[in-house]
Amino acid sequence: MKLLSSYTLGPLTLPHRILMAPMTRNRAPGTVPTDMMKIYYRQRASAGLIITEATQVDPMGQGYPATPGIHSEEQVKAWRKITDTVHEADGRIFLQLWHVGRISHPSFHDGAPSVAPSALTPEGKTFTASGDMVPFEEPRALKTSEIPDIVEQFRHGAACAKAAGFDGVEVHGANGYLLDQFMQSGTNHRTDRYGGSVQNRARLLLEVTDAVVEEWGSDRVGVRLSPGGTFNDMHDADPHETWGYAAEELAQRDLAYVHTVEQELDDGTTASALIRSAYEGTHIVCGGYDRASGEEALQQGRADLVAYARLFLANPDLPKRFAENAPLNEWDESTFYGGDAEGYIDYPTLEDISAKQ
Ligand SMILES: Cc1cc2nc3c(=O)[nH]c(=O)nc-3n(C[C@H](O)[C@H](O)[C@H](O)COP(=O)(O)O)c2cc1C
Repeated sequence: MKLLSSYTLGPLTLPHRILMAPMTRNRAPGTVPTDMMKIYYRQRASAGLIITEATQVDPMGQGYPATPGIHSEEQVKAWRKITDTVHEADGRIFLQLWHVGRISHPSFHDGAPSVAPSALTPEGKTFTASGDMVPFEEPRALKTSEIPDIVEQFRHGAACAKAAGFDGVEVHGANGYLLDQFMQSGTNHRTDRYGGSVQNRARLLLEVTDAVVEEWGSDRVGVRLSPGGTFNDMHDADPHETWGYAAEELAQRDLAYVHTVEQELDDGTTASALIRSAYEGTHIVCGGYDRASGEEALQQGRADLVAYARLFLANPDLPKRFAENAPLNEWDESTFYGGDAEGYIDYPTLEDISAKQ
């Protein structure tokens, strides 16, 4: 199987192509990674590459309770324990760099409104810092003069990730968070050089990517995109133009990879096909894949690597299970976000199961 064949990702050699996708688990009280997170990631160190849960680069970039940050010394020290343990277990780990933009609530930032490209309130409800669900409040449009600060926050997060011993970083440009909010025409009504044309809407994503590349070198930086994504009340008038341009620009930067969240666009094109047509570098796909469909994506050349989220959450030894075509544990959605060890570090490996029999 191609899924089981090794792959050279920049300076890294991946033993196979089965990656762990980024997953927010809300188990970092006070935004500092814990020893339980260390166990969770170590259990999954057999991934070709672990991409961590989204991690805010600044307190303004937080929008959910107990998500970890990567901006303070305390957080760097705590992440260091995690990267050390993953490396001891012969694993590789990238950190996902995150700013939620408008998908937040003032309670996360001492009452200050969330920031966004434009003052457009998302439909629906959001979490407060104490975990209640309340309607979104109107975000504040960032001034043009404030945008360099956002770029600096990502740069600082990238530098902190380096100090914490990661193998690289992934810029979160997907799923309706700040960089995606700038990209998509539905959330970006700006009239300055960060709004309007596709070149302007993609500018922040590209400036952030370039700043992060300055910290890391291009071959240790990936970017996640969700072409046509509507999660978090998102909309774009012309997904082919928007992500086609972004992919072409990213292709010129010789990155470690572009990581596409799979979905079908209104015209029936898949997100992965859209990106592949404009991006020849390493392409990761994620979203709804299993062993067979992941293999098919590789065979068809739509992707070079496949990331699994829920299957990895529930199967810490997923690569071994795919190699042996073994049965899989089922995931329990009720323990995805927040809570304790249950549904986090207690999913059994094949070895655990056979030891019990
Ligand atoms: C519990 C959970 C948390 C997630 N958190 C993140 C995240 O922090 N960053 C991100 O880019 N995607 C996140 N996602 C999306 C996944 O990375 C992935 O795109 C999605 O689950 C589809 O993949 P799957 O079918 O393999 O589960 C999350 C998904 C789940 C289930």
